[in-house]
Amino acid sequence: MTARPIIIDCDPGQDDAINLLLAFSSPEALKILGITTVAGNVPLNLTERNARLMCDIAGRHDAPVFAGCDRPLERELLTAEKIHGKTGIDGVDLVAPRQPLEAQHAVAFIVETLRAAEVNSITLVPTGPLTNIAAAIETDRTILDKVQEIVLMGGAMREGGNQSPSAEFNILVDPQAADIVFRCGRPITAIGLDVTHQVLGTPQRRDRIRAIDNDVARATVGMLDFFDRYDTAKYGSLGAPLHDPCTVAYLLAPELFKGKHCNVSVEIHSELTMGHTAVDFWHVTDRPRNALWMHSIDADGFFELLVNRLDRFSHA
Ligand code: RIB
Ligand code: CA
Repeated sequence: MTARPIIIDCDPGQDDAINLLLAFSSPEALKILGITTVAGNVPLNLTERNARLMCDIAGRHDAPVFAGCDRPLERELLTAEKIHGKTGIDGVDLVAPRQPLEAQHAVAFIVETLRAAEVNSITLVPTGPLTNIAAAIETDRTILDKVQEIVLMGGAMREGGNQSPSAEFNILVDPQAADIVFRCGRPITAIGLDVTHQVLGTPQRRDRIRAIDNDVARATVGMLDFFDRYDTAKYGSLGAPLHDPCTVAYLLAPELFKGKHCNVSVEIHSELTMGHTAVDFWHVTDRPRNALWMHSIDADGFFELLVNRLDRFSHA
C-alpha cells in the first residue's frame, strides 16, 4: 500500500497537535507533504510554533511547516485561549522548536503543490478555520481537480454550536471560507461535533495513554489533562472531546465511522446564526449532496487506534 499524500492545515490547539502526532505515527499510511498553519485557537505566531514543536516531539522533520493566514477572509479573528490556554498547547513543556518555519506562505505552498500534483491525488486535512484552504481555491480554482478529498473537522447538526448557540468554532471563525470550501465541488468528508462529542478523553482512557512510556504519549496525555478541564466543566462530561484526531483516525480506519451524503450549507448572512452548518440529513431539499456528513463513531475503537499508534513511538 502506498502512503496517501496529505496536507494537514491546522491551528494547534491541543487536539490539532494530537492529530499531528497521530499522523506522524503512521508513515506507512500517510505521506505528510506539508503542515500549513492558520490563525484560530490562538494567533498564527503561536499555531505555527506549536505545529513545529510537534515535529520535534515526534522526531519527524520531513514535513515542512508553513504559516498561512493570520485572520479570516472577512471577519475579525476569534481565538479560544479559554479552552487551549495562552500558548495554545498548555499541558506540554514549551521550548523553542528546532523544526524551522518555511519562508513560503502556506497558501502559496498549497497552490504550488496542487498545481504540480496528479489529478485526484492529494487529500487536504483541515482542522481549523478554513481560511487557508479557501484562499488557495480563490487563488487558482484549477487546483481543485488535484484534490482527492477534503477531510475536515468542523460544523455541527444535532450537537448545536460550541462557539455560538448554532455554530461550531472552526466554521464560525471564518464562515465565508467555509462557504467557499463546502461549495468547491470536491469530495468532502465533514466530521463535526455530532461525532467528536462521542470521543471523550475520559480519565480511564487518559490513564491508558499515561501508561505508555514515551515522550509522544507523555505530551499527548499532558495536553489532554489540560484540555479536559474546560469542556468537562462546560458540559459536565467525563472528558474533553478529541475533535481533530478524528480526521486522521478516519484516514487510518474509516470503518470506525458512519456517515451519510447530505447537503451542508453555511450561514454567512445572519449574525444570529452566522457559521451555522445547515445539514440536510433527511434530504428535504434538492440541494446538492456536497458532503459525507459523519454522524457516528466507534469511540472505543478510536482510542484503541490512538493508544496503538502512540505506542509505536516506544519502538521508533
Ligand atoms: O470546535 C472544535 C474545533 O475548534 C477544533 O478544531 C479545535 O481545535 C478548535 O479549532
Ligand atoms: Ca483545530
